[in-house]
Amino acid sequence: MCYPRAHIRCGLGCGHSDGEQALKGNHVSDALLHAFSLPSKSEADYINIVSAKDCTLVDDKGKQYIDGMASLWLCQIGHGNAKVINAIKDQLDQLQTYNTFDPFTNEPARQAAEAIRRVSPHPLGRVFLGCSGSEAVDTVLKLARMFHQRRGDSDRQIIVRRTGGYHGVNVGGTSVQGIEPNRVGWGDLLPHVVEIPNDDIEEAATLFAQHGSRIAAVICEPVQGAGGVIMPPDGYLEGLRRLCDQHGALLVFDEVICGFGRTGQWFASQTFGVTPDMLTFAKGVTSGYLPLAGVIISQALSEELTVDETAKFMHGYTYSGHPTPAAAAIANIEVIEEENLVDAAQRIQQRMSEGFTALLGDGMIQSFRGIGGIWACEIGEDAIPIRDAIIDRGVVCRGIGEALALCPPLIITDDEIGTIFDTFSDVLKQRSAS
Ligand SMILES: Cc1ncc(COP(=O)(O)O)c(C=O)c1O
Repeated sequence: MCYPRAHIRCGLGCGHSDGEQALKGNHVSDALLHAFSLPSKSEADYINIVSAKDCTLVDDKGKQYIDGMASLWLCQIGHGNAKVINAIKDQLDQLQTYNTFDPFTNEPARQAAEAIRRVSPHPLGRVFLGCSGSEAVDTVLKLARMFHQRRGDSDRQIIVRRTGGYHGVNVGGTSVQGIEPNRVGWGDLLPHVVEIPNDDIEEAATLFAQHGSRIAAVICEPVQGAGGVIMPPDGYLEGLRRLCDQHGALLVFDEVICGFGRTGQWFASQTFGVTPDMLTFAKGVTSGYLPLAGVIISQALSEELTVDETAKFMHGYTYSGHPTPAAAAIANIEVIEEENLVDAAQRIQQRMSEGFTALLGDGMIQSFRGIGGIWACEIGEDAIPIRDAIIDRGVVCRGIGEALALCPPLIITDDEIGTIFDTFSDVLKQRSAS
C-alpha cells in the first residue's frame, strides 16, 4: 500500500512505500526518529557522519569537520583511539555480556568501579553503574530520598533544581531540569521539586530557611552545560554546600559533562574545591565509545548502605555493570592518564580564552565564558543560523539560544583551535558585513 507521505519523501513519483524504497537502496528511509529534532525534517537533510579520527569527522560526501563539540560534550580522548577499541574487542572475545544482579559479578565492572572512584573526590565511596546520564540522574534522585527514608525522615522529599540546569530526559531528570521547554508537554512530572535561580545563593538561603527540614537534596551541575555553559558565581557552590550541611540535605553534583578532565581536574568538584555527597557521571567515562554512566556515593553514605545488613538495595538496570562498556571505561581512564589529558584541558583553556578575547576585541562577540575544555560566547542573535554556517565551513559547534558553545576532545591541537577561531571570525565577520 502507498501512503501520500511516502511519495512526497521519495520524490521519485514511484508507486512504492518508504520501506520498499529504503530496501532497494535508492531512497533515504525516514524510520529514524531523531533526538531533539523536528520529526518533519527529512532524513536526507541530516549530516551523515560516516567516520572519525582524532578530532576530525568525515561525512558521507567526504567532507571533513573539526569536532568542536566532542560529539555531545563527551569524546575526551578523540575518535578512533586504538587502545580503547582493542579493549572493547578483547572484552567481546572474552565475555560479551552478563549482568551484575545478585549473585553475579564480573571483573571489568569491578575494575571500572575501582578506577572511577580512585580519580573521584570519593576514593573510598561506592560506584553504581548504568548506561546513560539520564539513568544516573534518576538513580541519584532515588538514592537521595532513600537515605532520608531509611533515616526515618520520610517527609524529606523536596529536590531543589536550578534554573538552566539540564539533567537528562527520564521522568526524574525532566522534572529536575531548569530548562522549561524540556519540561512542558509531558503531563504531570515529579512532585516536590522547587527551583532556585542558578546565580543567587541568597534565594537558596531563603528557600532553606522556609523549607530546610523537607529538602532531600540540591542537584547542581557545577558548570551548566546544555543550559549554555553557565559558570557558578564565586562562592555559590560553597554556599550550597554550607546550606545543605546546616539543614541536613544532600548535595548532588551532576558531572555528566564536567567529569573526566573537562574542567581541568578529574571532576569539577575538585576544580571548585567543593565536595558533594553524591555525583553523577557519564559521557567522558568511556569518551562515548560505549554507553556507560553512574553515580559515585560518598564513603559516609556508602557506610549507611550497610548498617542494616538485611536492607536490600532495590534498584538496578539490566546493563548495570555490563562488562564491555566497563572495559572501555578502564582503557579510557588509562588513556586520559597516559596522555595527560586532564592537564591538556588547562592548555585548551589558555588557547580558548585567547581566541575569544580576540573575537571580543574585534567586536565579533558580546561576551564569553568557560573553563578548561568547555566554553561559550554570546553573539547577540539566534545562534542556530550562525552555527549552521560554521558547520558548513567545517567546524562543529553548538548553538544554545544566542550562544555558541565549544567542548572539543581534550586531544585537540593548538592548530585545530586556531582553525576553529578563524572559522568563527570569518562567519561572524560576514554576518556583520551583511
Ligand atoms: C549534566 C547532564 N546530566 C544528564 C544528562 C543526560 O545524559 P544522557 O543524555 O546520557 O541521558 C546530560 C546530557 O547531556 C547532561 O549534560
